[in-house]
Amino acid sequence: MIDLGGVCALTLARRYGTPLFVYSAAVARDRLEALRRAFTRREPLVCYALKANPNRALGRVLARAGAGADIVSGGELARAARAGFAPSKIVFSGVGKTENEMAAGLRAGLLAFNVESVEELEALARTAKRLKLRAPVCVRLNPDVDPRTHPHLTTGRARNKFGLETAAALALYRKASRDAHLRVVGIQCHIGSQITTLDPYRLAAASVARTIRRLEEEGIRLSFADLGGGIGIAYKDEKPFALASMARVLEDAFAPWPQMRLLLEPGRYLVADAGILLTRVLYRKKTSMRRFLIVDGAMTDLPRPALYGAWHPVEAVTPRRGRKITVDVVGPVCESGDFLALGRSLPPMERGDILAVGKAGAYGFAMSSQYNSRPRAAEVLVDGRRVLLARRRERIKDLYAAET
Ligand code: LLP
Repeated sequence: MIDLGGVCALTLARRYGTPLFVYSAAVARDRLEALRRAFTRREPLVCYALKANPNRALGRVLARAGAGADIVSGGELARAARAGFAPSKIVFSGVGKTENEMAAGLRAGLLAFNVESVEELEALARTAKRLKLRAPVCVRLNPDVDPRTHPHLTTGRARNKFGLETAAALALYRKASRDAHLRVVGIQCHIGSQITTLDPYRLAAASVARTIRRLEEEGIRLSFADLGGGIGIAYKDEKPFALASMARVLEDAFAPWPQMRLLLEPGRYLVADAGILLTRVLYRKKTSMRRFLIVDGAMTDLPRPALYGAWHPVEAVTPRRGRKITVDVVGPVCESGDFLALGRSLPPMERGDILAVGKAGAYGFAMSSQYNSRPRAAEVLVDGRRVLLARRRERIKDLYAAET
């Protein structure tokens, strides 16, 4: 499921307890390299979407390997700085940045603010003026493209709250280019997540290219085009496009502008495969309808199955022989939506055995909660032979430490 380079998952589960997220630095580095290598005509700036997994140790691995970051909040700005991402490689996305968040970003000297509305642009100009700075601006284009993914993961349709349609985007560029406290630097577009076909990217890139041409006619020049994230992975039997094909689509679309820098904001692609969730079997239970493995990991640790009906691979880590049986792997949370996997064929497991849930490096811990007053899991980073406790397990008293 994941190669931990000789480090034993059972030993990690014993030493750090469960539920436990385990990340492989090697896999994250490998994905970053693969994405870069896919481009042959120009080197893209890969800005890791921190929201997929904001863990500092994992972020540091990508920052050291030269990645930039895509952030969406003041919290992510602080985390990106602590992980060592260079401010000059950080873009600030998000439809609702507060003026405090903008100020923090301006003081840090970020590469760009991806702006999504007129009022947001006005707030950014006001904040920059107050700080006597000039804000670098990208406008986020909404190309009205269907990424053909889960409805919750679609962002580039006209009905979505994100970005601006072409006419409104052009108007915003005109406004920005007249403002002394703003500096127009690029264009951004992010159409969705877990995208496995290329056509949506082709359409989005064409729309971005058309907008660039219109801007040039008005004398507005850009230094980069940011095509967002969204690169899909195979959780089960999806057949995602090859990275080289995607690179070709983008390189072709922007061929008329050889000086223009290409940016990408991948989250899932870089870290999903780099993580597993280790969980322990608490109880077995057989009803007239189903067999359940009740484990100590839950929707609070990995909410993707409950939220999106997402399928994650599950494997027995504790070696067990015998005929496989079909089970539902469920957590202790008091909701029927609390499952990690349904109808899986696993060897006969016993109480105390360890299971691994795969492809849990993206949108796992990042979306975890303390629902049912469950302290959040610990996170471990494996880098070669080195094992680092990247985040300690929350304690019961962490649950109410902020309450008065
Ligand atoms: N850039 C922007 C502006 C975004 O909104 C996102 C993700 C990304 C980049 C990174 O997208 P990625 O490369 O990871 O697909 N919780 C969901 C995914 C939500 C993605 C939200 N935006 C899930 O578990 O599938």
